[in-house]
Amino acid sequence: MSKNGIVKRFMEEGITLSPEIVDSISERDFYKVKEFEEEIDHLDKETLSRIRSKDKCEEKEFETSITVEKCFEGAEKEKDVDEFVQYFNDRFFRLKDFLINRVELSDAVSIGRLSSYSEKEDVSIIGMVENKYKVSSGRWIVNVEDDTGSTKVLVDEDEGEWIVSDEVLGFKGVTGDDIVFSSEVVRPDVPLSRDYGETDDEVYAAFLSDLHFGSKDTLENKAMKFAEWICSGSGIAEKIGYVFLNGDIAEGIGNYPGQEDDLVVEDVYSQYDQFQEFVEILPEHIQIIVTPGNHDVVRMAEPQPPLPEKICENLHDKQNVHFLSNPATVKIHDSKEGEGLRVLLYHGYSFDGHVDSIPDLRENAYEDPCRCMVDYIKRRHLAPTYGTSLLSPEDRDYLVIDKVPDIFVMGHTHGFNVSNYKGINLISSGTLQSQTSFQKRMGHKPDPGKIALVNLSSRDVKVKEV
Ligand SMILES: [Fe+2]
Repeated sequence: MSKNGIVKRFMEEGITLSPEIVDSISERDFYKVKEFEEEIDHLDKETLSRIRSKDKCEEKEFETSITVEKCFEGAEKEKDVDEFVQYFNDRFFRLKDFLINRVELSDAVSIGRLSSYSEKEDVSIIGMVENKYKVSSGRWIVNVEDDTGSTKVLVDEDEGEWIVSDEVLGFKGVTGDDIVFSSEVVRPDVPLSRDYGETDDEVYAAFLSDLHFGSKDTLENKAMKFAEWICSGSGIAEKIGYVFLNGDIAEGIGNYPGQEDDLVVEDVYSQYDQFQEFVEILPEHIQIIVTPGNHDVVRMAEPQPPLPEKICENLHDKQNVHFLSNPATVKIHDSKEGEGLRVLLYHGYSFDGHVDSIPDLRENAYEDPCRCMVDYIKRRHLAPTYGTSLLSPEDRDYLVIDKVPDIFVMGHTHGFNVSNYKGINLISSGTLQSQTSFQKRMGHKPDPGKIALVNLSSRDVKVKEV
């Protein structure tokens, strides 16, 4: 909001301002004055500094903390064949490690050793899926490979529907003539028995995504209502320690043909200035985590690096604002020994391509995005098929879900949904953008203005509607 706009808001509330504070007054001051315990009708320098010094953080019964576990800072070199080989090797061996720890696959042999087996012998193998095709019986032939060779695997019709290229699977079955007849397909998944993140403090994390500042469909009033609610410090607002803003921060430009007709702010820097104004309202005791999405100014190919310093310059100077990559993993509230919860953030651009390749997800995941998130966890990968979204072959595959998260958040679909899978809180953070003309044509109905609030102590999820 412009300086004139802020002064006008004070005047509308019947509060006059001393001339000496006009230059430094901010929108956040407006909310703090409104929530102050005394009624104010004139704001001078002394009163303003008294209000500012009584920041809510002094009253907090908890101390926030954040440790970044995984953040892609940017590519250093051009990609060539060697990088592709290294990328796929990294993906294969890390996913294979998860599978080899599964009891069902403890006797797995390398594919190259199959030639020494006779027919009808029990066997377990682990391989990366090259492709699959359906045979007349309705079952599927799946071509899989590892670093020692390749083989065909025959799987049931239903099981085969879920298999996608480039995922890494275990198969249990019996040998045939140059084929394995699979009786069980094993995915990496996550174990039920593991260390679960915890904290004693009753502190909350709020999850938002797809703000799309600059779009004519963005409901700025909803962003401001959220900021106002946080600043009010009433109820759960007082207990918010973390705010996650998971991609599509700005609408951007040139994302699709005709987008210019859908913009109210055509300059991309000004779109981020609007976002910056929104974040500047939020109290500084809250840790704010910002990651990019496919509409943001960084490269489209995932992993996407953090928003650069020339974007939202003021925010980059703030200790409590953390610009991270997409995807990213952080541990929050971990200042006490043995405490802290791991949060995996992924914007979700691979969703459309992945969902389209599996009949069950194609039918159900747009209504229930968490269904796709469960599927990603089972495969331990955020974009299982190379090419269904734009991926950059870095020296390691940043989209492998290596450490098991306590909270997994994804945006992109603009559909709000929360669920739980094996103790992992799943959050499909909604949007602050109303239905766009593009979504209308595609039949997608967003559900804007719903914000998930996770109690880090109990893991209960509440929904804040703005
Ligand atoms: Fe979006």
